[in-house]
Amino acid sequence: MACTHRVYTEQVLSDILVLYGESKVLQVKIIKTQTFFIKNFTYLVFDDQTQHALLVDPAWDMQAYDSALTENNLMLAGILITHHHMDHTDLAGKLAKKYNCPAYMSQSEAQYYNFSCYNLELIPDNVESLSIAGIKVGVFLTPGHTYGGACYLIGNYLFTGDTLFMEGCGMCNIPGGDARRMFHSLQKLKKHISDDVIIYPGHQYQRKIGKTFADVKASNVYLNFKTEEELVKFRMRKGQKGLLDFT
Ligand SMILES: [Fe+2]
Repeated sequence: MACTHRVYTEQVLSDILVLYGESKVLQVKIIKTQTFFIKNFTYLVFDDQTQHALLVDPAWDMQAYDSALTENNLMLAGILITHHHMDHTDLAGKLAKKYNCPAYMSQSEAQYYNFSCYNLELIPDNVESLSIAGIKVGVFLTPGHTYGGACYLIGNYLFTGDTLFMEGCGMCNIPGGDARRMFHSLQKLKKHISDDVIIYPGHQYQRKIGKTFADVKASNVYLNFKTEEELVKFRMRKGQKGLLDFT
């Protein structure tokens, strides 16, 4: 799915990346949250003209989201959930209630895990885009880490949750996970995502988030396996020490 906002100027202001498109001014504020040892990268995307905002995978720190919305004088129009894991959904329902907005998740993810939260809105598996308060969101169903995980393309940014990290992909040996489906999900991203799209995952490990897809493709082994079998063999290999053992 091609990005509809042609990019011609990009500028980094503190932790706010400003993207100027032809018809929209979309901003992404990176909000890093943490509980105990779990660190998450969550994202506030907003249209500078309408002041409408979307939150991707909010967790752990209500104050951080309240402050970001207030400081930028924003109205929260929706919450996008990449998958059901607690570190991506912890505050989805609470924020949906507080700001009276929908929380979106793929239908297959919600149904498989029996996930529910306040104002949950299911995205049918054949739906490829949403328009939320005038913000166009491309939806890519990318199972593999979980049964019905999704990535969201907004402007020139792809929010990948735990499907794709800078240097790896999400674990596939957990309930609903499937390394074979992960292979096809990554192939789908390779087919549809432009080289200049910025990748924003749910976690940062060895490499800094926010690289272009071209950069990630060049350095991430999981985007370079030619067959399903190759990825499955490598991702499911024995002796992996833990979460960070991508390669
Ligand atoms: Fe996860």
